[in-house]
Amino acid sequence: MSNKLIAGNWKMNLSVADSRKLAKRVEDATTKHADKVEVVVAPSTIALTEVSKELKSGKTKVGVQNIYFVDEGAYTGEVSAVQAQEFVDYAIVGHSERRQLFNESNEDVARKVAACLRSDITPILCVGETGYERDHGETTQVINDQLATCLTMLVASDMEHIVIAYEPIWAIGTGKNADSKAVASAADTIQKTVKEMFGEKASDGVRILYGGSVKADTAKSYLSLDNIDGLLVGGASLSDHEFVAIVEHAADGE
Ligand code: PGA
Repeated sequence: MSNKLIAGNWKMNLSVADSRKLAKRVEDATTKHADKVEVVVAPSTIALTEVSKELKSGKTKVGVQNIYFVDEGAYTGEVSAVQAQEFVDYAIVGHSERRQLFNESNEDVARKVAACLRSDITPILCVGETGYERDHGETTQVINDQLATCLTMLVASDMEHIVIAYEPIWAIGTGKNADSKAVASAADTIQKTVKEMFGEKASDGVRILYGGSVKADTAKSYLSLDNIDGLLVGGASLSDHEFVAIVEHAADGE
């Protein structure tokens, strides 16, 4: 069984100084578990270089919350994977906040996933349905459609270098986390779709996370699922106590 991956998405929160402090507190508390769990923090882009300096031992990895899919050029305000690769191992792509607030399409996300892989960054590709889609029984279809487009530029051997996060939109930042049965079923859908697209070996290699209102007291129910390889944590990753407790559950193999 491979180590669980616990990623904290700090979103547009914290000053650079506070980001550095939180990174250090997380690293100090989790470093003893470094051989049992992989920990990633994703600060806002403005804090990325400072946080990566703070975490230079590499025991806690750094992620960027978004990248642009072109490598360089006249794209005011954007940051490319080529630029980010000096500081990060991971990039969150296709987060529902990017899709909903900044109109990112599945086609954009597909190009971002490919850009990450060109720069040796592991993309954490987010997929998931809205509450309306869930209530209308469309979860499986939505996940399939998102994956069919978002993975379209890849080949089977890429699958061990990507992470897919099931993040139901209705659960993000709402305090309404999904029940573990629904998460297991969504992870099963993801595995089946990857298998159909790229074959069995590829679907065995892909890591699947759950994200959406995860807290220390709910983390265990997901971490114990066979087909869940870790968690993508938003709000609770801003509290070192909560986040460290989640990492400790993952290290305990719960
Ligand atoms: P949340 O965010 O844990 O605050 O719901 C998760 C995410 O957006 O990745």
